[in-house]
Amino acid sequence: MILLVNGPNLNLLGERETGVFGTETLADVERRVSEACRAYGVEVRAFQSNGEGALIDFIQEHRHAAQGLILNPGALAHTSRALADCVAALSCPTVVVHLSNIDARARERGKSLLAPVALGQITGLGLLGYYYAALHLCTLLSRAAEEGERAGAASWQEALARARPSPVRMPTPAGSGVAIPPEPDEEVPEDLTARGEYEPL
Ligand code: DQA
Repeated sequence: MILLVNGPNLNLLGERETGVFGTETLADVERRVSEACRAYGVEVRAFQSNGEGALIDFIQEHRHAAQGLILNPGALAHTSRALADCVAALSCPTVVVHLSNIDARARERGKSLLAPVALGQITGLGLLGYYYAALHLCTLLSRAAEEGERAGAASWQEALARARPSPVRMPTPAGSGVAIPPEPDEEVPEDLTARGEYEPL
């Protein structure tokens, strides 16, 4: 199960500063992430709160069941050591997502306390950032499941620890003439539609 957690003011997506955050709503975000994860058989539990404590309580409550966390901490990214400590305590990987490019905005927004404790961070890609985060975590989980089975891992935590994240190969631009050969044992899903044009690790 993957947690999708959104912090303060993200409930106002679609009506709040649409020039910066876009016109899609939080419901759109949650639907997109759920659809992407469903294609991998992964359940999503979504939560939004304007309160720091409520966010921490939710993440703590699900910390044993969570196999990944997609987190947009909102402005708490720049202020909350408590939320960063909570994320650092998780045994599953976290991808931090910001709709806007926080590095390109006001200086104090560029500093994130959450980025250093996450597996990775995606900023400035709008709703797609959540989607890519979901694909990355699901790919990681599929790989962990396969490798864990092969290596006889006792738990998914152990399997995940073995399946170290590796850089994602970028899709080849159409017509570039560059062909990326498939990995020797790589299984390419037959139907790429639901998963998007994202290559497995
Ligand atoms: C945000 C960026 C934050 O700086 C801001 O406070 C938000 C939204 C984003 O998704 O771009 O609330 O997290």
